[in-house]
Amino acid sequence: MSIRKISRMGHPILCRPAKVVEDPTAAEVKDLILDMIETMADAQGVGLAAPQVYESRRLVIFHEVEEPESGAEGDESPPGAPLIILINPQIEILTDEMEEDWEGCLSVPGLRGLVPRYTHLRYSGVDPEGHLIEREARGFHARVVQHECDHLDGILYPQRMTDLSKLIFDSEGRHWDAPPDDEMV
Ligand code: NI
Repeated sequence: MSIRKISRMGHPILCRPAKVVEDPTAAEVKDLILDMIETMADAQGVGLAAPQVYESRRLVIFHEVEEPESGAEGDESPPGAPLIILINPQIEILTDEMEEDWEGCLSVPGLRGLVPRYTHLRYSGVDPEGHLIEREARGFHARVVQHECDHLDGILYPQRMTDLSKLIFDSEGRHWDAPPDDEMV
């Protein structure tokens, strides 16, 4: 296992659709997953997509966290939240309702933005053993899934924003009720 470098906004790998993982049970895929888990933990992230470690593959990992408690002290990593590993994920949106909330991204360091996301969806994919995963998600869980799967389609959260005046520096978040220690995905 090793900690990988994280790609940043502007690198072409973050702008193009990632490739389907042909064999989700392959040893090299397991190695990549282990590196992604270590890299995400080191960066204190909640989610990570393979293109964020320069691998153009349809693979995401994320902690299944509920709404982060604002002001929860020193609680950046959610140790109790289950880790979901999703290969070749697909999303089905189950509502017209969207909700705005602040997002940060490990590939867009130092910034955060107010992003509208659907509040209810179903996602599916395959785990590293080749088993089908199918889940419903709401709220923050659904937000993280949309953010991570967008990475696989070459989309970063600023492209989902409707008001770029709400793209701000972390360090100015206090003016906007966007705490700088919010969850990064
Ligand atoms: Ni991200």
